[in-house]
Amino acid sequence: MCGIVGMLGNRNAVPVLIEGLKRLEYRGYDSAGVAVQHETELELRRAVGRLSELENELTQHPLSSTIGIGHTRWATHGEASVRNCHPHTASEGRLALVHNGIIENYQELKGDLAGKGFPFQSDTDTEVLAAHVADCTAEGDFLEGLRRALAGARGAYAIGLLSLDQPGVLYAARLGSPLIVGKGRDGVFIASDVPAILPQVDEVIYLEDGEVARLSGDGVEIWNLAGEAQELKWVKVEMEDSAVDSGGFETFMLKEVHEQTRVVRGLMDQYVKDGKISFPDLDMSVGHIRTLQRMMIVSCGTAYYAAMYGRLLIEHFTSIAVETDLGSEFRYRSPKIQPGTLVATVSQSGETADTLASVQMAKKAGCPILTICNVFGSSLVRESDHLIYTHAGPEIGVASTKAFTAQLMVFVLLTLHLAEARGELTPESREELLAELQKIPTAIHRVLENKEHIKEIASRHHDGPSSLYLGRRFNYPMALEGALKNKEISYQHAEGYAAGEMKHGPIALINESLPVICICTETEDEVAEKMISNVREVQARAGRIIAIATEGDQRLNDITRDIIFVPRTTECLSPLVNVVALQLIAYYAAQARGTDIDKPRNLAKSVTVE
Ligand code: AGP
Repeated sequence: MCGIVGMLGNRNAVPVLIEGLKRLEYRGYDSAGVAVQHETELELRRAVGRLSELENELTQHPLSSTIGIGHTRWATHGEASVRNCHPHTASEGRLALVHNGIIENYQELKGDLAGKGFPFQSDTDTEVLAAHVADCTAEGDFLEGLRRALAGARGAYAIGLLSLDQPGVLYAARLGSPLIVGKGRDGVFIASDVPAILPQVDEVIYLEDGEVARLSGDGVEIWNLAGEAQELKWVKVEMEDSAVDSGGFETFMLKEVHEQTRVVRGLMDQYVKDGKISFPDLDMSVGHIRTLQRMMIVSCGTAYYAAMYGRLLIEHFTSIAVETDLGSEFRYRSPKIQPGTLVATVSQSGETADTLASVQMAKKAGCPILTICNVFGSSLVRESDHLIYTHAGPEIGVASTKAFTAQLMVFVLLTLHLAEARGELTPESREELLAELQKIPTAIHRVLENKEHIKEIASRHHDGPSSLYLGRRFNYPMALEGALKNKEISYQHAEGYAAGEMKHGPIALINESLPVICICTETEDEVAEKMISNVREVQARAGRIIAIATEGDQRLNDITRDIIFVPRTTECLSPLVNVVALQLIAYYAAQARGTDIDKPRNLAKSVTVE
């Protein structure tokens, strides 16, 4: 959701800015722009649509300078148009600013600034912020004025700023939106994330909330909002560039779906040593684990479905009572969380605004925070007392796949860890589950090997306006996730439902044209027969059944010919395998429908606004 990149270096910054913006494309955007600084003017190029439009603009009207800022915009205030596109300028073009986040008091500021004669061309809060900074820096020390301007802006921001009054200087600041500073052979940089400037930098600093950075020929300096100089905490960049290319796959999503075997195995290697589970960043004593009575897991979107799975597992194996809630609901209801309740969050990006606000609320209520996250140094990570990284590597496809499977895996390991510490799991059951877990990477690999069959089924059922996904117990969250994946990338309406609830409403939808994806991998437990009965209810109404079933299970043979067989595993672990089949169904449906799979319309990778 919006991306920032900036450079001050020893060569033309424009190609680096464009390359950086391309690397930020995955976050979602609808327009883009760059600004560069010359001695007597700031020059801008902006365009609506894909970055190729901005590149065309630059071919027709080239730009060159060693200092510049760039931005991809995901519209919040005003439609996607050139006049709303960043960078925004103020003071008759003497100052240019790019911004991620939302300035909540922009109307109020705009009124004051209009009264002072500042003209406005756009509908954006960013143009108001640019004018506000210009107003505050018009006299006196520039840095002091910038700090004053930021202190008067309510909301969230990450900014990059150029001013003709500060030649050869690039300013950056953050509050609630991520921003990093980097250095490398060719200069100093700013960006929304590490992948954006990965080829350029050796070391980065993760700016803290309230910090302002000044990048110049003298290097990097950082202050907090009170004006105190901050120590520069450079971190060596360990990420490989191969982690952010599509590695020969037709899309990042397909690459990431295939990476799941490695991600799941990697998590086992990371967190299970000599048969013992330990999380280096969890920092939670056995004594604390034993006193846990309640847990609340808060997250959004796909990560919420991982939370639902986590709840099922933890309640199945321990005596801890677990609730889940969506970040956007939790923060606006009056949750009765007792101090001491462990509040857990799950997030790929670690930047999701609603999850972050929920954490801040829970902290105020005196709750310790556990975060399960994929991004090192992200905002959620900084807010947390206890931490488990999902180590899925950068996820570029907007639709989450490997990060989700990694979240599921972390929940399995966390559950075993909690149950063991509380003495609620016999050594035999623990051994048995760990042995089953060892087989999951191979099971995922087998599903991937079956992709041509899945493709054939998906391409026969992609055409209708809608589809229904059904599952029970551990696979109910997978039905929700399968439907979400389908909606996100194929744009086919899809609904996920608890199979037992179907008769209470959605059964009215079933006819011969509705594909119904039924997750039927349970074969022995108490919901196994019930799921088959639900499938028969669909069959009786002539629904188009696509079943996911366990290899060797004959029960569906007389019900449908469209069966995707997956390797047998324990029921509680089956979501880790089944979800891969669901991802592939969505993927091939989207391919048949010709959508932009890695960058689906209207979606952003990290949702940093409410
Ligand atoms: C996943 O496919 C989605 N794009 C989306 O639902 C996502 O899971 C949600 O926005 C939460 O993001 P997070 O994991 O980064 O917090």
